[in-house]
Formats: sequence, structure tokens, C-alpha cells
Amino acid sequence: MATLRLGDIAPDFTQESNEGPIEFHKWMGSSWAVLFSHPKDFTPVCTTELGATAKLKAEFDKRNVKPLAVSVDPVDSHTKWIGDINETQHTTVNFPLLADADKKVANLYDMIHPNASDTMTVRSVFIIDANKKIRTTLTYPASTGRNFDEILRVIDSLQLTDRYSVATPVNWKNGDDCVILPSITDPEIIKSKFPKGHTELKPYLRMTPQPNK
Ligand code: BEZ
Repeated sequence: MATLRLGDIAPDFTQESNEGPIEFHKWMGSSWAVLFSHPKDFTPVCTTELGATAKLKAEFDKRNVKPLAVSVDPVDSHTKWIGDINETQHTTVNFPLLADADKKVANLYDMIHPNASDTMTVRSVFIIDANKKIRTTLTYPASTGRNFDEILRVIDSLQLTDRYSVATPVNWKNGDDCVILPSITDPEIIKSKFPKGHTELKPYLRMTPQPNK
């Protein structure tokens, strides 16, 4: 198993899920994906994370992103657990949960870190673009629930970079000023790409209003 790095093509796989078998690349189609692992079914932090993800469906849809959860338990366990998630988190799980009992996906994506646990996955996140490229990886310990607002924020930043040639500065939030990519230096291109204008604090530090606001 090779280390997966940013820019790599996300490995394809076929695996069972509570919604039937998933052929990953085919399932993605022309969408982005967030592939994220959960240490185990019937665990409290995971229960809250899956509930939160279900409630964010409209936000994922807006960004053309499909969430796909991984847990190393079989389908019948997932089905029972999803009942608990729906009940306790007051939602309906609306995305598939891979039943990775043979750890095919967990191993392919290096989601088991044996010095943390031999059997459970850590909380991995892979943000994958529509070209199947890995654009972000995050790794959290089992005991820390992830911040899904941060995952959406990273997706917003990546999609702004792709569409408008801007990067996002420290603690950026949707609507804040962005920075012009350092690779853009031609004044005519800057004028046409950033019609709202820009402020040059240093030749390498040029702020512009968020282009799509
Ligand atoms: C949880 O998902 O709640 C959890 C899993 C493993 C260790 C600690 C918490």
C-alpha cells in the first residue's frame, strides 16, 4: 500500500454498503466526494458525525459533493446503527455507509494506524475532486469528532481556487477577501480576472474581494 498524497488519483474500489455495492469512481460520476472513516459502528462520536453529515445534505449538494462513509462492520450492523442515528440525531441518513468488514477500503486508504488501534480505523477524511484527484487529507483520532463546517470551508476554498485563481488566507470564511494566486503576475490578466479590483500590500500579497460574492 503506497502512501496517498495530494494530487494522487483516489484508488478505485468496489465495496458493499447499506445501499448495495458501490463502484467508487462510477458512483462519483462527475461529482466531488468526501470519503470519511469511522472507527466502529455503535460508537457515540461517530453517531453524532453521521447525523451531522445527513443534516448538511443541502450544503454538500450545493457544492456538487457526495459524502461516503466507511466503517469496518457488515451491512446488517450498519442498518441497525443507522436506525439509532436517525432516532437520536433527529435526521435521516441520506448517503451510503460502506460495509468494509474485510477492511478493503480501510487498507487501500491507510485508515488503520496500528499504533493507535489494530482493529479500528482512525477518523480519515479524503476530499476528492471530480477528476478523482485527492485534494485534501485530514486525520483525526477516534476520540475527536471532526468539524464538518471546516470540511465545507476547505471544499469552498478548493473550488474558489479552481474557478477563480484565488487562494484563501488564514481563518478565511465564505465572503471574506481572498488572495490572488502568486502564479498570476500579468497586470492585464489580473485586471480581467479580478474586475472588483485588488489591494497590493506587497507584490506577493494581493487581496481581492471574493470573486463569486
Ligand atoms: C466514538 O466514535 O465515539 C469513539 C470511538 C473510539 C474511541 C472513542 C470514541
